[in-house]
Amino acid sequence: MQTLSNLPQITASHLVKSVNLNHHGTLYAGQMAEWVVEVGFMTARAALRCDPRRLVCIRLHGMDFRRSVPSGETLVLEGRVVHVGRTSLSVHVAAHLVDHPPGEPFPTEGFVTFVHIEEGRATPHGLDVAPPEEGEARRLWDHILEERKRR
Ligand SMILES: CC(C)(COP(=O)(O)OP(=O)(O)OC[C@H]1O[C@@H](n2cnc3c(N)ncnc32)[C@H](O)[C@@H]1OP(=O)(O)O)[C@@H](O)C(=O)NCCC(=O)NCCS
Repeated sequence: MQTLSNLPQITASHLVKSVNLNHHGTLYAGQMAEWVVEVGFMTARAALRCDPRRLVCIRLHGMDFRRSVPSGETLVLEGRVVHVGRTSLSVHVAAHLVDHPPGEPFPTEGFVTFVHIEEGRATPHGLDVAPPEEGEARRLWDHILEERKRR
């Protein structure tokens, strides 16, 4: 059995360019969501080491936009697995500026959940992870389970 902390984490950086902006001239939420899903997918796939065709996104959740991101900034997105079920896997993605001021909230945080499929149906992915016992990792694990009850 593995632990969450042994699973690979994925980091991706993006230069925010004019093509990524909304009508306010700051980063477009749809673009941010795409980058969050991308990092989530790469993180999930690195953990499962599976064929990319075996993974589908079932939920993009808890995504908050707390600060706008101006053009020209470098945005760094970090993905880590926070919950592993029988067929599913949830990734937390935090997006911050490369020169993020200490103590400032991240511009965006959110979760992406993927399901391992075969012929279009959920199938066990085979990754066995013990629930963390305490701390932030345990809080996030329970948070995902609580959210599922409300779906
Ligand atoms: C992924 C899919 C095959 C799952 O089918 P399903 O019959 O709903 O699957 P199940 O009910 O067996 O659930 C599978 C897993 O997903 C979890 N799950 C189901 N609905 C969920 C939701 N709304 N949010 C989070 N997790 C969810 C279940 O808890 C289960 O996890 P576990 O096995 O780790 O405990 C189906 O929902 C699907 O094809 N969705 C479309 C995917 C897609 O096209 N994505 C691209 C979006 S544009």
